Amino acid sequence: MAAIEERIKELARRRKAIVLAHNYQPPEIQDLADMCGDSLELSRRAAETDAEVIVFCGVHFMAETASILSPDKTVLLPRLEAGCRMADMITAGALRARLDSLPPMPVVTYVNSPAEVKALSTICCTSANVVQVAESLDADQMLMTPDRNLAMYAASRTGKKIHVWDGYCPIHERLRPQDVEAARRAHPDAVFMVHPECRPEILELADVIASTSGMLRHAAESKAGQFIVGTEIGLLHPLQKANPDKRFYPVSDKMVCPDMKKISLQDVLECLEKMSNQVKVPEDIRRPALEAVQKMVALG
Ligand code: 13P
Ligand code: SF4
Repeated sequence: MAAIEERIKELARRRKAIVLAHNYQPPEIQDLADMCGDSLELSRRAAETDAEVIVFCGVHFMAETASILSPDKTVLLPRLEAGCRMADMITAGALRARLDSLPPMPVVTYVNSPAEVKALSTICCTSANVVQVAESLDADQMLMTPDRNLAMYAASRTGKKIHVWDGYCPIHERLRPQDVEAARRAHPDAVFMVHPECRPEILELADVIASTSGMLRHAAESKAGQFIVGTEIGLLHPLQKANPDKRFYPVSDKMVCPDMKKISLQDVLECLEKMSNQVKVPEDIRRPALEAVQKMVALG
């Protein structure tokens, strides 16, 4: 192991810290982490760990979710400016105004959102459990925020009336049918896996629709030997690492989330040395947000 990784591991031991990394993080961060996963798995791990410090290698809403679930732990985000462009497309004020214009109904909020918005929501969801969450509600209609693509996907799978918020992930939104067709032509025998943040016309072309960890599971279990990966390119690293005999191709080289690429090993080392870059959700927001997150986690 290189010197910097050893220094981080040693410091993490002394600080009783756990390093969590999202599946889109740079390869060297994923290789260093105690656990990698999708948003749902990372939320669960943040809730369960007995570490005193959580170093969250991901984006801001993920560190906030860890703080919501574990208020007594210190949560560090090695680069505080690593945000999520979709989460920036909604605010608590804008959600209140929208709710005033609708009859009373539950609000389902994707974890890719600010803590203040979770605090106003009935329940949270991730890309891994959005259908299960919508079905769990004793209501025929609901507002789903902030991802319109995820909301349309949930509506198509549940038959419920879902009012959408007009947000989206600019990285997944970029993907067009022509990109998929070109990738299919280049790799005609490959299975096309896609993330539900993509547009409906892309989901229609998919063989598999799944969260990032759902894609990892599918690739491991499938008999197929080749896959076109319809999500952020960071997922190529764990896919290839876990399945060295299979081949993975990015659907397009434009699927790069700059915020997910901000954290370096040096940033991880520095924040652990200084115990800097803490993310803490204020208690008046944390409590109602926790209710929405816990309802999701409790669905299992
Ligand atoms: P997953 O929960 O599927 O890992 O997705 C998180 C995300 O930010 C997708 O863009
Ligand atoms: Fe947010 Fe999209 Fe980046 Fe995921 S890929 S963190 S949804 S901007």
